[in-house]
Amino acid sequence: MKVTLLGAAGGIGQPLALLLKMQLPPGSELALYDISPVTPGVAVDVSHIPTEVKVAGFCGDDLALALQGSDVVVITAGVARKPGMDRSDLFNINAGIIKDLVEKIAQVCPKACTCIITNPVNTTVAIAAEVLKKAGVYDKRKLFGVTALDVLRSETFVAELKGLDVYHTTVPVIGGHSGVTILPLLSQVPYVDWTEEEVATLTKRIQNAGTEVVNAKAGGGSATLSMAQAGARFTCALVKGLLGENTVACAYVEGDGQYSRFFSQPMRFGKEGIAELLPIGRLSEFEEKALQAMLPTLHKDIELGVKFITQA
Ligand SMILES: NC(=O)c1ccc[n+]([C@@H]2O[C@H](COP(=O)([O-])OP(=O)(O)OC[C@H]3O[C@@H](n4cnc5c(N)ncnc54)[C@H](O)[C@@H]3O)[C@@H](O)[C@H]2O)c1
Repeated sequence: MKVTLLGAAGGIGQPLALLLKMQLPPGSELALYDISPVTPGVAVDVSHIPTEVKVAGFCGDDLALALQGSDVVVITAGVARKPGMDRSDLFNINAGIIKDLVEKIAQVCPKACTCIITNPVNTTVAIAAEVLKKAGVYDKRKLFGVTALDVLRSETFVAELKGLDVYHTTVPVIGGHSGVTILPLLSQVPYVDWTEEEVATLTKRIQNAGTEVVNAKAGGGSATLSMAQAGARFTCALVKGLLGENTVACAYVEGDGQYSRFFSQPMRFGKEGIAELLPIGRLSEFEEKALQAMLPTLHKDIELGVKFITQA
């Protein structure tokens, strides 16, 4: 199984490269690509760690070489948020980067699963889908917006607040990946009672957790280390699914369109990417209202991405 990481020299890219070197199944290949000339060095650096994952580094004009034969491509290439910016402020720069990279994926490894970390995910995934469609190689089972960080944060905050074992706390997160479109399904955490105030406060904290990091880093970047772990967890679940193991995760994908064309929900992976979308289950009244309230934002974010390609 070959995994290629685009943006591998960045704040997320480098720790994600490290975690993938440590966590991918033995026998995997890991290709690291970034426009930055430091990237082959990042690959040499992690290659000294004794695991059975073979690493190679590429930069500059060698994107096609990095992508050759990839089963999974993870994209963290782009710019990150600074204080005062929200994820949609990133749109103008990151939209162009995603378009160019996905055009190359369509050309070099059209059957690969593409996992997008680059923000704004609600929109960059729509851009990627339209690029793949235009190239005639779109398979909706193989395109993912990585929302795993919302799941990790929910698990951590819920376990802290309720005194649960954090290793066994799971919280599905549905919707999208910005502000009100992030909806943790707290009512589905087993054996936990919530007050209305707790649900409202915690939901808001999870929705704004990215800003918590951006502000705490005081201009030095956004979430990188926790995002790297979230990216590694998601990628390893997908890779294991491709290898035939029964794995599940939440991600932002094109599903049945019940709520919006792209929607984050739990799914089971298989040899071709998504094997089965899992139901979002019963929602509380608070969650049902929040779901309905997010839809105009989600639709607008998706439309922006579609127009970026179809009206180019
Ligand atoms: N999905 C999430 O939950 C989540 C969480 C945090 C950050 N992010 C997003 O991830 C992205 C990366 O964040 P970061 O902190 O690593 O930023 P960063 O600026 O530290 O790194 C980005 C890297 O992308 C590289 N790059 C730029 N254009 C490229 C191209 N065309 N091809 C290959 N590489 C290219 C840069 O050289 C740089 O090394 C941002 O868009 C950020 O908003 C997403």
